[in-house]
Amino acid sequence: MAAPRNLAGKVALITGASRGIGLAVAKALAREGAKLVITGRDQKALQAAERALKQALRGKRALAPRILSCTTDVREPKSVQALFADIKKDFPRLDILINNAGISHAMAEVERLPIQIWREVIETDLTGMFLVTQGALPLLRRGGTIVNNLSMAATHVFAGQSAYCAAKHGALGFTRTLREELRPRGIRVIALMPGATDTAIWNQFWPEAPRQRMLRPETVAQAILDALLLPPESTVEEITLMPTAGAL
Ligand SMILES: NC(=O)c1ccc[n+]([C@@H]2O[C@H](COP(=O)([O-])OP(=O)(O)OC[C@H]3O[C@@H](n4cnc5c(N)ncnc54)[C@H](OP(=O)(O)O)[C@@H]3O)[C@@H](O)[C@H]2O)c1
Repeated sequence: MAAPRNLAGKVALITGASRGIGLAVAKALAREGAKLVITGRDQKALQAAERALKQALRGKRALAPRILSCTTDVREPKSVQALFADIKKDFPRLDILINNAGISHAMAEVERLPIQIWREVIETDLTGMFLVTQGALPLLRRGGTIVNNLSMAATHVFAGQSAYCAAKHGALGFTRTLREELRPRGIRVIALMPGATDTAIWNQFWPEAPRQRMLRPETVAQAILDALLLPPESTVEEITLMPTAGAL
């Protein structure tokens, strides 16, 4: 007998789902029966992710996933508007929003950090989260959940990573404010703070980092899934997930 699907019929939007943590979350949610909207800037990478998702569920006909892939740049208001126009054509509502799209930057102390890099990181990791959340709110109902993928950099600082730390600290303030605003509407808002996770983002600032000491993206996805599956009257407001080996 097929196992019950805990997210059957739910619609989940995952930004930055073409690889890394976002793709792992998409796989975990699809396995539970969720319908997916996945985004990223690189159309080919997004198409490859869609194929990978279908491959992961191959042979499980009951789980044939419904996937809408949208090429979106979360920094651009017009691109985000186009995303929600596409979503509304296919789905009447959203149940889950995973704000995951994010970038880091090459190590550089404040004195030498180019303004263009500062802007790119703040616009992606902070303004992008605001824009996507604002677009999603009219589609979210009581019982819905927003998960904002922050980082240890939301509460800790790392020299040479000022734009990333500033964006993630700001995103934590945004997340906590949003949670208070959405309590009366019965929408859960979760701040996810993973430690080092083995994805391509490390190539942006520390390519030789010891990958064997990191979390796997699938483990982060499992933590999100566990939070999503809590009974509706309860929530876990902040998740700090660390490698057993500790911080790098
Ligand atoms: N890996 C870690 O150690 C770690 C730890 C804590 C938190 N995080 C956070 O986890 C999230 C995912 O990171 P990851 O490690 O999985 O990195 P990743 O493998 O580099 O994936 C990043 C994803 O975000 C997308 N993206 C980047 N800029 C975008 C933009 N402007 N608009 C839309 N999509 C965009 C990328 O696709 P395109 O490039 O095609 O747009 C990709 O799908 C980030 O917010 C990161 O800060 C990571």
